[in-house]
Amino acid sequence: MKAVVWHGIGDIRVDEVADPVIRDPHDAIVKITHSAICGTDLHFVRGTMAPMEEGTVLGHEAVGVVTQVGEAVRGFSAGDRVVVNSTVSCGACRYCRQGQTAQCDVANPNGPAAGTCFFGGPQSTGPVDGLQAEFARIPWAQNTMHALPDNVTDEQAILLSDIFPTGWFGAELAGVTRGDIVVVFGAGVVGQFAIASAFKQGAGRVIVVDSHEDRLAQARAQHAEVVNYDAEDPVEAIKGLTNGIGADCVIDAVGVDAERAKKGAAAEEAGKLAAAFDAEVARVAPDADPDATQWKPGDGPSQVARWSVEAVAKCGRIGVIGVYPPTMQSYPFGQAMNKNLTIRMGNCDHHSVTPRLIDMVAAGQFDPTNLVTVHEGLDTAIAAYEAFDRREAGWLKVELFPQR
Ligand SMILES: NC(=O)c1ccc[n+]([C@@H]2O[C@H](COP(=O)([O-])OP(=O)(O)OC[C@H]3O[C@@H](n4cnc5c(N)ncnc54)[C@H](O)[C@@H]3O)[C@@H](O)[C@H]2O)c1
Ligand SMILES: [Zn+2]
Ligand SMILES: [Zn+2]
Repeated sequence: MKAVVWHGIGDIRVDEVADPVIRDPHDAIVKITHSAICGTDLHFVRGTMAPMEEGTVLGHEAVGVVTQVGEAVRGFSAGDRVVVNSTVSCGACRYCRQGQTAQCDVANPNGPAAGTCFFGGPQSTGPVDGLQAEFARIPWAQNTMHALPDNVTDEQAILLSDIFPTGWFGAELAGVTRGDIVVVFGAGVVGQFAIASAFKQGAGRVIVVDSHEDRLAQARAQHAEVVNYDAEDPVEAIKGLTNGIGADCVIDAVGVDAERAKKGAAAEEAGKLAAAFDAEVARVAPDADPDATQWKPGDGPSQVARWSVEAVAKCGRIGVIGVYPPTMQSYPFGQAMNKNLTIRMGNCDHHSVTPRLIDMVAAGQFDPTNLVTVHEGLDTAIAAYEAFDRREAGWLKVELFPQR
């Protein structure tokens, strides 16, 4: 079968690889009809989330049809249409029973202390071959898949694999309640779903910060108030929009590949932090090429962390869903302490978050499809990755059709 395979930093290819087979009684095999490229995949190709194992099939978002189940999978049969959770979880350990499925004790082959197991990720997450492929092996399939009702299309469901649950989880981590003013850093597709989720969880206003006008326009279409950090200082803008108080909640939907401001008032402050940012990049992406034009790591890893702590009100709440690697060690800790902030973070607990979102889409309360902007076959996947990496206008979310 064909699959997108990681060979090295800046080197991914569509390869012919062996079809997956059932290896464990808890496995299922899924024929993938819809997959997608995620901002998380970019970290692996840029070298900001390392080390990866050569030969790993990339991708952690999929919708498909079950073709085969292992004998311990009792709730699914061949022919079932499913959405696959990005994170793998056993469904029986203490964490899974508490709904904290991203910290499952059993799924990660590196042991309980290794943390989240997900498809197509670095060595520390499994590695488990991913979902940008014609077929995939789904470990712990009973808990790692959800059946889809007939009135949720594949096109809607692909965003239920990772993005909508992560946005929802981010708003939960930030403790969004009725009337809150919520700031979302990052207007990528995760940020877009954080906006939608914050409103659905009761936010009174949502302010979104990015530098890409096409992405800000998409956020404005959801009635978020937009701030371009290359045109104005985002912290000043947020203070100005909140009577000087700051936001009640902040959601970081950017992560380690954050950019520093290049123009405008915020660029001056970023200039003073240049040495600190350079040291962070050297630490989180030691093998990346900082001068590359393609697959270039973000040049301000702690930029969003800094702005988050400054933009939130005293006693405010920050939810971090943008991904940071274990090598990321800088955070404005003292400033957060002296403002009595609450900071929560992590990988989405997909298995426990997703069911109510499937219901919401089935009930017509939210249609995620207009946030998928580009559709490609596997044959053009590498060019699609490159355009998405460059954040070309209109390339908000790339859906892949492996069977085409
Ligand atoms: N926690 C989870 O379970 C989970 C799940 C999925 C994705 N993620 C993470 O969410 C993040 C976003 O994913 P995506 O697919 O939307 O990626 P993306 O790369 O498409 O979007 C990131 C956005 O952040 C913006 N940005 C960069 N620097 C910024 C700054 N200083 N201030 C404000 N915005 C800035 C970029 O312009 C871009 O629009 C990634 O880090 C991804 O790994 C986490
Ligand atoms: Zn994803
Ligand atoms: Zn578990």
